[in-house]
Amino acid sequence: MAAVAAATRWRLFLVLSAAGLGVTGAPQPPSIVLLLMDDMGWGDLGVYGEPSRETPHLDRMAAEGLLFPNFYTANPLCSPSRAALLTGRLPIRSGFYTTNGHARNAYTPQEIVGGIPDSELLLPELLKEAGYTSKIVGKWHLGHRPQFHPLKHGFDEWFGSPNCHFGPYDNKARPNIPVYRDREMVGRFYEEFPINLKTGEANLTQLYLQEALDFIKRQQAAHRPFFLHWAIDATHAPVYASRPFLGTSQRGRYGDAVREVDSSVGRILHLLRGLGIAENTFVFFTSDNGAALVSAPRQGRWLEQLGLRPGPLSTPPPGRV
Ligand SMILES: *[C@@H]1O[C@H](CO)[C@@H](O)[C@H](O)[C@H]1NC(C)=O
Repeated sequence: MAAVAAATRWRLFLVLSAAGLGVTGAPQPPSIVLLLMDDMGWGDLGVYGEPSRETPHLDRMAAEGLLFPNFYTANPLCSPSRAALLTGRLPIRSGFYTTNGHARNAYTPQEIVGGIPDSELLLPELLKEAGYTSKIVGKWHLGHRPQFHPLKHGFDEWFGSPNCHFGPYDNKARPNIPVYRDREMVGRFYEEFPINLKTGEANLTQLYLQEALDFIKRQQAAHRPFFLHWAIDATHAPVYASRPFLGTSQRGRYGDAVREVDSSVGRILHLLRGLGIAENTFVFFTSDNGAALVSAPRQGRWLEQLGLRPGPLSTPPPGRV
């Protein structure tokens, strides 16, 4: 299946810590930005030796922060990995298993009706008690039915989708995956939120970036500690990038998506510095699992990770998964 990964290893950077002062002069708890990639392999970054060196912002982040070369995800599949990240619990305890057929694995878009149980305590729920405001931008993947939505599980805001951008299905039996703003559905992938499978063009990463920048600015203005979970999916097949990035990578379309991710991370870090809150913000960058074996053949770094030689970079992504 598309999201099964070759490598379960993931990498995590941590930059910048130190207690800052809130508006009252009392120390304000540090804000948290968790940048979660989708199916991105550790070998995609320059800091890990990717030869085209197209990730200057992430490489700088690693150089200025901490690099965790032995940080492991709890599961090599989107849903269980994300459940574990937000609950701190093993997938088998939250009911998110690896197999795609089981009830609480929210992997398959429309057919699977399960999701994160109310009994699980998610990071934003715990942070709320400490006065944090939380937002998730991008892919949730812990259940698409209303009772499982992020705002029912601790997040105050959401812009994104309950699942991957698979499709287009364009039929009544399998409608295209919806996009939400908070509790309201605001459109669907391939319809109000176009992804051109032929050219690879989509503006989603830019939309997600604007959501992140806007949220950070609002929380800083209100002097509130915040948790931003930026869970974008540009590096999940079918990979996409916006026009300014398309065709700019030496690595094909997948590389274009990675370059847009890198540029966006640079913008977020730049804003944190500009607002003077970088020294009181933890920023983590990691991936939900390793590079996808099946979903992006010849586009990701999986061949190299298996010790094989890369093939031609020109193969387009699969249109359907
Ligand atoms: C992306 O945004 C640009 C500029 O607004 C627009 O011209 C283009 O059609 C959009 N592309 C897609 C795929 O939505």
